Amino acid sequence: MKEKVTVTKLAEMKQKGDKITMLTAYDYLTAKLLDELGVNLILVGDSLGMVVLGYDTTLAVTMDDMLHHTKAVSKGVKSSMVIGDMPFMSYQVNADEALRNAGRFLQEAGAHAVKLEGGEEVADKVDKIVKAGIPVMGHLGLTPQSVHQMGGFKVQGKEDKQKKKLLKDAKILEDAGVFSIVLECIPKSLAADITRAVSIPTIGIGAGCECDGQVLVTQDLLGMYDKFVPKFVKQYAKLSNDIKRAVSDYISEVKKEKFPTKEHEFC
Ligand code: KIV
Repeated sequence: MKEKVTVTKLAEMKQKGDKITMLTAYDYLTAKLLDELGVNLILVGDSLGMVVLGYDTTLAVTMDDMLHHTKAVSKGVKSSMVIGDMPFMSYQVNADEALRNAGRFLQEAGAHAVKLEGGEEVADKVDKIVKAGIPVMGHLGLTPQSVHQMGGFKVQGKEDKQKKKLLKDAKILEDAGVFSIVLECIPKSLAADITRAVSIPTIGIGAGCECDGQVLVTQDLLGMYDKFVPKFVKQYAKLSNDIKRAVSDYISEVKKEKFPTKEHEFC
């Protein structure tokens, strides 16, 4: 059996320069595959809203949605670390509410850690959750739950003032106790500076190759979500084409009575 991924192992991986892999999953079968293939971190992202539930943003995703999908993912995982993404309004109101909701991910859904978005403004929530023994992953840069405040899904940290704030936020999150930080859609050089400035691993998405690890939404990597393909996505497959072909073949074979054949029948 493979060694379980823990926060200690992740810290060692950063020390050794061993790159960390993270992908999203929202269901049992995908999680089982990713786990068997040795993906270090499986994020049940609130990107669920966009790639599974068909919303335009992540804002409508609820705690109930997240717990439902995190439960399914946890059932498929043996070695990877499962991280539950705290949805919009599950941690912003106050630290007590944040802790109660973070606890539900571990107690009810089998997650090993939670992730939340933001810097200085969420430090008190991170502190409270970490002090209760729950590992927390931070998320800086393009934080999709603030899409309306950011004026769209845009690269962050291009100007000096923003750069300084993101660097400061990373250190604040580290001091508050996060075990890792996702850096989304920021310039490569800023991600490299943050990665050098903190002792915890950084996981990049659209943040260049100098982060300690990388994350992608699995449906993006597999070429299944073509509503919008961001610049930072590499499609390692075009599954949507394969699915279209397979389903068209099925329709045509059923219509022409070519399926089922003898091998699929019972006597
Ligand atoms: O929700 C999500 O999938 C995420 C990743 C893109 C980091 O937050």
